[in-house]
Amino acid sequence: MEKLKQRIVEDGVVVSDQVLKLDALLNHQVDPQLMMEMGKEFAERFRNEGVTRVVTVESSGISIAFATAYELGVPLIFARRKKTLLAESDMLCERVPSFTKGIVTDIMISREFISENDRILFIDDIIANGDAARGLIKIIQRAGAELVGAGIVVEKAFQLGANAIREQGIRLESLVVITSLEGGKVTFAND
Ligand code: G4P
Ligand code: NA
Ligand code: NA
Repeated sequence: MEKLKQRIVEDGVVVSDQVLKLDALLNHQVDPQLMMEMGKEFAERFRNEGVTRVVTVESSGISIAFATAYELGVPLIFARRKKTLLAESDMLCERVPSFTKGIVTDIMISREFISENDRILFIDDIIANGDAARGLIKIIQRAGAELVGAGIVVEKAFQLGANAIREQGIRLESLVVITSLEGGKVTFAND
């Protein structure tokens, strides 16, 4: 997506060789027009998959997942994060490390909102090591639901998350793929 690449070049801040700050468009301030365009793009790519629910993890995935769910005309479910956890039988939980925050959290979805009849599209803002994504995929599998694919706004291809998920046979589509942040410069795939 050319427009998204432009916004990343203009408003993204390379913090290190590993981390790209996208607070101006994705992780703090949100551009609703751009979100809706990206949601439309994901909806088009997965239109024929019979998606019944879009799933993401709070908080930064919610706006893009909302846009996608709106375009597909299905509900959005965002997994909640909690630092401590009392065992709740109606909740499907997975423990995941957070790359940027350096902490471990539990992500959870109520069994009330995901079942073996669902065809799930997983949507997220950024994929790095893929820990949150792997946790969510486990929850979807434990619910007995079918994961039809994953739509990611920004794939950092120099980290291993996206390809590890593709190697599980899951269809993962990214709107932009970043191959390097070295020298303070954002390099995209196919540049
Ligand atoms: P993930 O690839 O499954 O997201 O797991 P990973 O453990 O690699 O990343 C954990 C968190 O760090 C995620 O946010 C992810 O979006 C964020 N992250 C990873 N790399 C970058 C980066 O280069 N830039 C930015 N801005 N974020 C990055 P999260 O913990 O889910 O938090 P939230 O943003 O949803 O609140
Ligand atoms: Na994030
Ligand atoms: Na996220």
